[in-house]
Amino acid sequence: MGIQTTLSVESEAARLLASRGRLKYSREQCAQLAELTLEINRLKKEKNAVILAHNYQTADIIYGVADYVGDSLYLSRKARESDADVIVFCGVRFMAETAKMLSPQKKVLLPDLKAGCSLAEGISAADVWALKIKHPGAPVVCYINSYAETKAESDAVCTSGNALKVIESFPEQEIIFIPDQFMAANLQKETKKKLISHNALCIVHETFTAHQIASFKKLYPQAQTMAHIECSPEVAALADYVGSTGKMADFVDKSLAKQFMVVTECGMGDLLRVQFPDREFIVPCAMCPYMKRITLEGVLRALLKGEHEIKVDESVRRKAMNALDRMLSVG
Ligand code: 13P
Ligand code: SF4
Repeated sequence: MGIQTTLSVESEAARLLASRGRLKYSREQCAQLAELTLEINRLKKEKNAVILAHNYQTADIIYGVADYVGDSLYLSRKARESDADVIVFCGVRFMAETAKMLSPQKKVLLPDLKAGCSLAEGISAADVWALKIKHPGAPVVCYINSYAETKAESDAVCTSGNALKVIESFPEQEIIFIPDQFMAANLQKETKKKLISHNALCIVHETFTAHQIASFKKLYPQAQTMAHIECSPEVAALADYVGSTGKMADFVDKSLAKQFMVVTECGMGDLLRVQFPDREFIVPCAMCPYMKRITLEGVLRALLKGEHEIKVDESVRRKAMNALDRMLSVG
């Protein structure tokens, strides 16, 4: 390694250490990661690429290489607005696919094709047709955690951040809400419309139980509880805030509380600890095996070798875009 390169790696390690000090990364760990992040950030410039990372990604990705970090709604907006030639999606496949549909002229790369999602895999286009036949006239609102073919059979897409708004934007009283059964049950408490749901579940959020959360609440009686809307209605009933990962940060920001319980994927707890160092986060977390398939090594391969390009059939994209446009117009 030349003197110039050694100096660059040292200053990159110092940058990583400064941005992650609160996550207790050691100097040695930062020095090891620096070579990778330096090369990824160099390739990003060379290829006019942007890295979008979901809130559940690991700290090395979030603080080392990501340009934008957020929830599904925020990242879809960033995918559409970006003028980069290449998007590397540090998240799961349905997110990369959505970015591709919103920006068809860009190359969208997903570092690991096994980064799936139990919700997206829990429904097919045929399941949507069956629901439509059973409930004629009911529009279909589809959670963004679904594949392009499912979105193409839907009338609107929504995220955890705007689901209620999208549901209320329809004049019909009966709405088919797919694919998340728990999310439909949680939304049912917030709307007078009748929601017809499917039976898919998030393998991460379904593991939290009301008994577990109630026990934590006894241990930390001062803590405010935030639960993702994919949790069961029994868990959601124990929470002070129920919704998206993005709005959890807003909730903490506006709250005067010092302690928070974070009932969602583990990465969210790490992120909040860095964003709010003066608050305490109790995290009975569960890890998403799909989200955690994304690594710095995978991101490097994506930029170097174009692994793995996401493609969406144009006829499917056009149909799905109607549903995505409806979501984006609702706000
Ligand atoms: P958010 O859009 O709330 O970040 O949720 C995405 C997700 O996959 C939750 O499990
Ligand atoms: Fe899918 Fe659940 Fe993982 Fe989110 S946390 S990507 S909903 S499996």
